[in-house]
This record gives sequence, structure tokens and C-alpha cells, in this order.
Amino acid sequence: APPEPVYRIGFSQCTMGDDWRRAMLAGMEKELSFHPNVEFQMLDAHNDSELQRQQVEQLIKQQVDLLIISPNQSGPLTALTEMAYNQGIPVVILDRRTASRLYTAYVGGNNLEVGRTAGRYVAQLLHQRGQVLELMGRPGSSPATDRAKGFAQALAAYPDIRLTAQVACDWQPTSVLQQLPAVLRAHPETDLIFAHNDPMARAAYQVVTQLALPHPVRIIGVDGLSGPGNGLQLVEDGVLNATMLYPTGGEEAIRTALHILRHEPFTKENLLKTMVIDSANVGPMRAQTEQLALQQHDLRQQQQRLESEMQRYASQRTAVYLLLVS
Ligand code: FRU
Repeated sequence: APPEPVYRIGFSQCTMGDDWRRAMLAGMEKELSFHPNVEFQMLDAHNDSELQRQQVEQLIKQQVDLLIISPNQSGPLTALTEMAYNQGIPVVILDRRTASRLYTAYVGGNNLEVGRTAGRYVAQLLHQRGQVLELMGRPGSSPATDRAKGFAQALAAYPDIRLTAQVACDWQPTSVLQQLPAVLRAHPETDLIFAHNDPMARAAYQVVTQLALPHPVRIIGVDGLSGPGNGLQLVEDGVLNATMLYPTGGEEAIRTALHILRHEPFTKENLLKTMVIDSANVGPMRAQTEQLALQQHDLRQQQQRLESEMQRYASQRTAVYLLLVS
């Protein structure tokens, strides 16, 4: 087969400031390691939509062959993404959406479903009655909008559950530490906090334990990442009652990008599944993710062993041959 052409993929990433984004990039790099003909460039917008616009403009100017974009907020990135698409640059939207349907493919979680799953779980946990607080992601970012929408939709079936406040927290734990004390003082009867991601849920736990409230507050989050201080461990340690799994889509984004670049068939909407992780399944979940990491490590080692075996075999065969002919 003729060698594959060089493909240049530009990735505009809204932030690299947390483990979830690092896991996303690790997934992308793993998949990219199978495609040495891909030149991959990532630009980090540091949670700044204006900076992200400039970076997308830069990637368009560089005439990348394909653009992957995870927009910090929908509005500010929509027109530019449409422009790139209309210019003929394939665009893969990853995790966060623009406000437009003009893109080549979407890869990411179903955030409406994440919100609904959280709402149903809350109803079950609270036996269908109680007061709930919601700590939201950044206003104008699509997962925050969709998680809130799905959560409200699910809770609408339970008239005795009251959503007493929604706090815009920018996805950041620091903004939870700043805002939550006052909100909890205004709503001391809060039974449960739904945070739009695990880092904010973890910060909520910190605030709740410091405030000595009249009764315990349950906390649930989103992401369910493995590794120290992340969702799976927080659930295992009882810091969180549950987290909704939100896969990063890193590997799938690169796979989809390669299909598009090679003019192979691909799926336009790639919605990754969510599930509740709580004390009932966190053990097997953790074991499984750790097992997977180990297997990947083993696979790499096996590959190296195989290569050196093959070299040894080749030289042995020469030795046997020499013995036979002598
Ligand atoms: C990471 C993050 C995740 C969240 C996702 C939503 O930057 O805040 O915690 O699930 O982005 O886009």
C-alpha cells in the first residue's frame, strides 16, 4: 500500500487545567500513536473564550486539514466554527458544543442524559422528597446548560423535591468555596447538592463539613474519573454519594477525525454513554479501569518482548543453519 499522506489536525482545547482534560489528551495521544503520519497541534485557551477565538483563527490560517474544537462557551465560538466548516475544513466538536449544526461530527457525552440520570438518582436517594441545590458549570457552556435542563426535566416528576437554588460556578472548585457558604446559610435545610462536575462536588464537601449544618447533606457529581482525588476515589471514600460517568471521548475524537480525513464512512453524532457510579458498583468500576491501565502497560511490554524474541530467533536460526551445513 502507498504510504499515507501527512494529515495536520489542529485541536482548540478550552482548558487543560484539570485531570479530566488531561485524561482526554492522554486518550488522544494513545490513539495518535497508531498514526505517525498525523501532525497534531493543541492550543489551550485557558478557559478564555476570546483567546480561544484567536487560537481557532490561527489554526484556520495555518490551513489545518481538520479542526477539533471543545468550545469554552457556545456563543463566542459559533460563527468562527461555522466559517471554518463553510471553508471546507472538517470540524469535529468535542464534549462542549457550539450553538450551530454546521459541523462535520460531534463526539462526547449526552449531557441532557447526564442531567436526567442525576435527577432520577436524586429522587431515589431522597425517597422522592427534599431540598436540592445545584452547582452549575460555566454559564453559556453547553454541558452546563444541558445538565441543568435534564436535571430539571427528571425532577419535574417529583413535586416534593424542591430545587432551591442554582449557583453558576464556572466548573471551578474555587468558585464553589467562595459562593457556597452563603447559599447554604440561606438554605440550611438542604438535603442534597448536585454539582456539575466532581472537582466542584469535592469543594462542596469541604464547605459542608466546615459549616456544621443541622443535618447531613448528600453530594453527587459528574465525571467519574479514576486516579487520586478524582470521582471514583471520592465515591469509594464516601465523600460523594455518587458520580455520573462522563467519558472524555479523546480516543473516539481521533478515530472519527481519521475516518473523515481518509474519506471513510463515519458517524456524525457520537454520543457516549453515562451511568451512575455509587457505593454499589464503584469497587468493580475501579478494578476495571485499573485493570485496563495494567493491560495497556502489559501490551506495550509484550510487544517489546516479542520484538527482542524475534531478533533472538532470527540469530538462533542462523546458528542452527550454520551447524547443519557445517
Ligand atoms: C473539565 C470539565 C469536566 C466537565 C466538562 C464539561 O474541564 O469541567 O469536569 O465534565 O469539562 O465540559
